[in-house]
Amino acid sequence: MSLATNLAIDPARLWDSILDTARIGGTAKGGIKRLTLTELDAEVRRWFIAACEAAGCAVTIDDMGNIFARRPGKDNGLPPIAIGSHLDTQPTGGKFDGIIGVLSGLELLRTLQDAGYETTHPIEVINWTNEEGSRFAPAMLSSGVFAGKFTKDWAYAREDRDGIRFGDALRDIGFIGDEACGAHPLAAHFELHIEQGPILEAEAKTIGVVTGVQGMRWYEVTVTGVDSHAGSTPMYLRQDALVATARMIEVVQQIALEHAPNAVGTVGLIEARPNSRNVIPGETFFTVDFRDPDDSVLSAMEQKLTERLATVAASSGVAADLTCIWNSPAVHFDADCVTAVRAAAVQAGFPHRDIISGAGHDSAYVASVAPTTMIFVPCAGGISHNEIESAEPGDVAAGATVLLQAVLAMDAK
Ligand code: GLV
Ligand code: MN
Ligand code: MN
Ligand code: MN
Repeated sequence: MSLATNLAIDPARLWDSILDTARIGGTAKGGIKRLTLTELDAEVRRWFIAACEAAGCAVTIDDMGNIFARRPGKDNGLPPIAIGSHLDTQPTGGKFDGIIGVLSGLELLRTLQDAGYETTHPIEVINWTNEEGSRFAPAMLSSGVFAGKFTKDWAYAREDRDGIRFGDALRDIGFIGDEACGAHPLAAHFELHIEQGPILEAEAKTIGVVTGVQGMRWYEVTVTGVDSHAGSTPMYLRQDALVATARMIEVVQQIALEHAPNAVGTVGLIEARPNSRNVIPGETFFTVDFRDPDDSVLSAMEQKLTERLATVAASSGVAADLTCIWNSPAVHFDADCVTAVRAAAVQAGFPHRDIISGAGHDSAYVASVAPTTMIFVPCAGGISHNEIESAEPGDVAAGATVLLQAVLAMDAK
């Protein structure tokens, strides 16, 4: 039997898995469009389950569609050490966001299996359902139910922009499992992910030791004016919801700038109705995404948003309805897990630095129910949520190596 430190992942096999699954929903520009709970999501889930079973795992599924692939340990009475992330993507997603977290877990299972290595704890690789939140808001929906942040019924009732309910879509792809979501203790949870930002690349660091995740709040705004004829309604008599919305988008930008350099604010989704070129838009719907590592800054930003949207609405002759639909507070990861990742990076000789995640991850919720941390690797130009998202095979392999050693260190504790 090998010593833990002599085990090595197979970088070529890991890269092949990434390219293999990238064909499922692959786009002409080299990215992936694999929205949660679509037939393509079902296809990659089946691929993942087959690969895990071939690596000697038993697979279970909970009633949020989260998939758990379990490799037994010496003491199966212990909760498993888990490696989790997501296989769903944004509409213009890349090949790495989420995917390397799940597939590096698969690579770890295969490495243990090839070596005949027995861990003390069972090891589990998890595919969390709907991390992206693009089709069904909010993000991290199923890790959120797992961690008790949302109820299953609330999650099932979430609707996409076509009015399809999450619970119906989950049933339609055949992934409502037997296990009740959350009834599944974990000894620890690790997640390898691309940074999705520019810091590691700029500083020539291979490994980001992730110490936490910044806070995030999502809002929905409906602006109501009056539909009217584009030719015969004088400018001074219009109640144009879209013009008001343009002013509101400036407000979002301004609030984020007032809390520079950490705060960010984004309007990523907008719909104008009736969306006809010769009708003054009488209604809009748009979303706001605010993030900052400090929850009190987010509260100040929320206060400003409430006040200033009301001011713009009044001066534009429209009504604005603002709702906070999601508040994910800042997270600080587990000290022992963070130490295990840092030690693994040092031991392997990879340049590394501590970093806070700007993006949301399932680990942010899992951290409230199990000792958790993440490992980041660089991505080209820091670009993510884009089909051109790119990462170097050597960096992904380095991340998987750190993951393996950190998992084995926690197993030996
Ligand atoms: C999810 O990917 C997020 O960080 O918004
Ligand atoms: Mn992700
Ligand atoms: Mn993402
Ligand atoms: Mn994310």
